[in-house]
Amino acid sequence: MRHAAVTGWGMAVPERVLTNQDLSQMVDTSDEWIVSRTGIRERRVVELDETATSMSVKAALAACDKAGIDPATIDLIIVGTYTADHQMPSVASLVQSQIGATRAGAFDLNAACSGFVYALATGAQFIESGLYSTVLVIGTDVASRFLDYTDRSTCILFGDGSGAVVLQASTAEEGVLSLVLGSDGSAGHHLTLGDATSLAGLNGTRTVDRAFMKMNGPEVFRFAVKVMGEAAAEAIIKAGLTFGDVDLLVPHQANLRIIDSAAKRLELPRDRVWVNVDRYGNTSSASVPISLVEAVDAGAIQDGMNVVIVGFGGGLTWAAGVLRWGSSGVAQAARR
Ligand code: ACO
Repeated sequence: MRHAAVTGWGMAVPERVLTNQDLSQMVDTSDEWIVSRTGIRERRVVELDETATSMSVKAALAACDKAGIDPATIDLIIVGTYTADHQMPSVASLVQSQIGATRAGAFDLNAACSGFVYALATGAQFIESGLYSTVLVIGTDVASRFLDYTDRSTCILFGDGSGAVVLQASTAEEGVLSLVLGSDGSAGHHLTLGDATSLAGLNGTRTVDRAFMKMNGPEVFRFAVKVMGEAAAEAIIKAGLTFGDVDLLVPHQANLRIIDSAAKRLELPRDRVWVNVDRYGNTSSASVPISLVEAVDAGAIQDGMNVVIVGFGGGLTWAAGVLRWGSSGVAQAARR
């Protein structure tokens, strides 16, 4: 069977840092409240000239460089995002042209903060089916453009960023070993952004308020605590592994308390859980790939290790998978 191995990885975050202290001058909050309830200390936010696409181009080029591939050899680009620069063209198409991926198909996918894992799952299917050999998967979001910076219950949580991986066909049992995708649309109203149904079209004119993210924090928290651990556990069992086989958990970085509860469910000590929510906040679709990049670069992920990725978000959605790190069978697959 062909497997989808991760052969390259890259990330990009804006330079501009927004600290809890900065936010406490904008809304009625404090560093102490934010750190104790979320674990977040600071996050990055885009400048006017930065976009989901501009960050993705940087992350994508770094991932191609790491994989040692020419972007012109990429077959497909999939971008997980809910904050695309435009409704059309897609971020994926803009990235495709800007990195010179001349023969790649390209599309965006929206599963909110689960978007990267959904995109990875989709990319892996194209490789496992034999249709494509090289797929670029990106998670990117600029939530800061869609936050109400007078609403303290949402604006403290999010940051901007982008992460990318290159998937390539491998003959070895490595890369994506299992996947779990889920959705509960009946709870979708707890986390929303935008409302196209309020656009009048032919039916006259209606004034639409600028769309900001709206969230029922406690409901989303309860949901996240439940699904993060459950989805990760299901992915581990599907991969034929036990909790003890997990070398590193790379969870969506929304809230340290949610991460801790997932780790507890999987009986994992803190040193086997990647955490960077303190430095970036919740970067939405970008949080899992940014975490993967940092963990590999720090030596916390090495060849042969079993890595569990898990996300949750708007939809409401959840997604988890097990990756066995390494690319030993990629050269052989390329010769076939
Ligand atoms: N500073 C100070 N006080 C605050 C703040 C703030 N920034 N925000 C809310 N509060 C207040 C509330 O008004 C409330 O006050 P009250 O009791 O007088 O009404 C009090 O703090 C407690 O509020 P809760 O909402 O109950 O606090 P909680 O402990 O649940 O933490 C939080 C709030 C951090 C938002 C939590 O609910 C959470 O993390 N939820 C999950 C959010 C999440 O992960 N979203 C990402 C989804 S991913 C995607 O797809 C986009």
